Amino acid sequence: MVERPLNRLVVIGLGLIGGSFAKGLRDKGLFREVVGVDLDAESRRLAVELGVVDRCETDLAAACRGADVIQLAVPILAMEKLLGELARLDLGEAVLTDVGSAKGNVVRAARESFGGVPARFVPGHPIAGSERSGVEAANGELFRRHKVILTPLEGNDPAALALIDRLWRALGADVEHMEVEHHDEVLAATSHLPHLLAFALVDSLAKRNENLEIFRYAAGGFRDFTRIAGSDPVMWHDIFLANRQAVLRTLDAFRDDLDALRDAVDAGDGHKLLGVFTRARFAREHFSKILARRAYVDAMHSNDLIYLANPGGSLSGRIRVPGDKSISHRSIMLGSLAEGTTQVEGFLEGEDALATLQAFRDMGVVIEGPHHGKVTIHGVGLHGLKPPPGPLYLGNSGTSMRLLSGLLAAQPFDTVLTGDASLSKRPMSRVAKPLREMGAVIETGPEGRPPLTIRGGQKLTGMHYDMPMASAQVKSCLLLAGLYAAGETSVTEPAPTRDHTERMLRGFGYPVSVEGSTARVESGHKLVATHIEVPADISSAAFFLVAASIAEGSELLLEHVGVNPTRTGVIDILKLMGADITLENEREVGGEPVADIRVRSAKLKGIDIPEDLVPLAIDEFPVLFVAAACAEGRTVLRGAEELRVKESDRIQVMADGLNALGVKAEPTADGIIIEGGPIGGGEVWSHGDHRIAMSFSVAALRATAPIRIHDCANVATSFPNFIGLANQAGIRVSVEGEN
Ligand code: S3P
Repeated sequence: MVERPLNRLVVIGLGLIGGSFAKGLRDKGLFREVVGVDLDAESRRLAVELGVVDRCETDLAAACRGADVIQLAVPILAMEKLLGELARLDLGEAVLTDVGSAKGNVVRAARESFGGVPARFVPGHPIAGSERSGVEAANGELFRRHKVILTPLEGNDPAALALIDRLWRALGADVEHMEVEHHDEVLAATSHLPHLLAFALVDSLAKRNENLEIFRYAAGGFRDFTRIAGSDPVMWHDIFLANRQAVLRTLDAFRDDLDALRDAVDAGDGHKLLGVFTRARFAREHFSKILARRAYVDAMHSNDLIYLANPGGSLSGRIRVPGDKSISHRSIMLGSLAEGTTQVEGFLEGEDALATLQAFRDMGVVIEGPHHGKVTIHGVGLHGLKPPPGPLYLGNSGTSMRLLSGLLAAQPFDTVLTGDASLSKRPMSRVAKPLREMGAVIETGPEGRPPLTIRGGQKLTGMHYDMPMASAQVKSCLLLAGLYAAGETSVTEPAPTRDHTERMLRGFGYPVSVEGSTARVESGHKLVATHIEVPADISSAAFFLVAASIAEGSELLLEHVGVNPTRTGVIDILKLMGADITLENEREVGGEPVADIRVRSAKLKGIDIPEDLVPLAIDEFPVLFVAAACAEGRTVLRGAEELRVKESDRIQVMADGLNALGVKAEPTADGIIIEGGPIGGGEVWSHGDHRIAMSFSVAALRATAPIRIHDCANVATSFPNFIGLANQAGIRVSVEGEN
């Protein structure tokens, strides 16, 4: 069906939507002719005059005979009658589709009229509109970059679905498929309820005696909130009648929430109000974005944010990179579980730390901010968390999922932890297994991967655990579970890993003992709110340490960087390679060592990286591989198999990228062998891994031609404004398509 040339498109109902569909496809020349049907003679006349259709028909049967596609764009309550009429005609091979804002009622009507859903009826709903209406407002570009939801039915002819899909895409729409019921629930909540509220608010205020006063002083808030009350009343009355059940469900849930807010106002409960408002504000800014990416955008195409890194340049000046990711996560977790109000400064406003923040808001913690790195956490105490309303979505963040699993294993309620495509591939048995030994009940997805379902109400018992791998996440997870487990919990690590959890627990007044490679907590103590200053993240600074080392003529000062000895492997490795790095103004801030780091360009040489430095530089290897590519001679890394289970398989992905740029890089089971040499230009893929994207941006400093880096959106997980800061320092990287 798709192969043969399309003959006739029939659009029944020449309003804004039907007219725009007809005009767009007519402009594209996808059909030999576009025929309009409308009860209104003036609309028919205008449609021809404005070039919306080639011609109009008054006789439905004549219009539809031999048609390829019939688009039903009549008001939603007229759909039933129209479907009844169509069912009596011989529609031949025609594919039927519609644009109704609710789908359940249309599908029901089709089923009744046709005695079962016709195989070639593909229900659809373009989420587009305009304050203007009627065929005179028809615009062939109306659907460009708008979502169109198709709700294919069981028994639909796949070719019919493919055809309708293709037509919408030809109009520039983002097409998605959804189940009918799901569509109606989603639209009831995101579109129908807000319209009802806007109509209701305006009417309620307008009815009052003092309404003139009210409208005279109604400023921005009223205007913004009620803009949609200017929509077509007849159309909306249709929609509410058509989607009655779903609207009622969402309205009832909303009424409960509204009542709760009323009670809070009545009781002077500012805490409750602040909780709702801060959650809402954050949700609007961030969570909808995170969610939107998960639910709606296919990472393979439309989400491909490309960095273009131009060759050459040198670094100079002084910069402060964003706050430490590990410490930011922990500040939210411990601040939430503390008694009292914790102030955080320098918080990393990246998506990973924000995912942790949102998780605690979902569990009832009131958190103000972040605003310019400041966060205020109204702690609820170790036993004050509330059941979240749904699964906790943790985006790209392995740290959130692994640390939270320890905490949540000990709560009285169930939780489900989910993440994006990358997180969904990462191993979680490393935490689930020891937690189960402590008495936790946790289910994982296949092969120990997310989602994690954690059953609440379990009694945990402290234990000793010898970690098979050097992982701060596993250690921290068990220590957090240990805050709740009977008796003592201790963890021994095979090599030193970052100790931010131990340090911060102490900062909150919780006793932790560390003897050699064993950290130990016992339950029964409490966390007391404190002030936290998050230093700049050495993992983000690492890109600049390498950049200024490899770019000739550079001298750069990185301010206020966390130099906890469990994190400074990158400095040690670079120094072994000959880098010129000095620490200045060393001090301790809130229990964490901090320094300004000066780095000047230097001639690097290849080395065998000492294995004991691997856990101390675990996140910095992608950019260290770039340093190795710029060094003279061979660099060999061993004992780093953990790199294969990070946000991407960092050994393979870096080897592929370096090879694509003409660098000899040979992956091994637990490391890589890199021969220093010239770096060419070319295309590389970061596989959604923030650190890979930033590493290749740095590589361009020594490349002979531009490097195009695909799939860079996740840089926002750890380094907001990387592009801005990189350019400020002298790295010539930009987002392709932007200035
Ligand atoms: C982290 C620990 C490390 C590190 C990650 C952050 C932490 O992971 O790679 O980026 O905050 O505890 P592992 O514990 O898996 O090594």
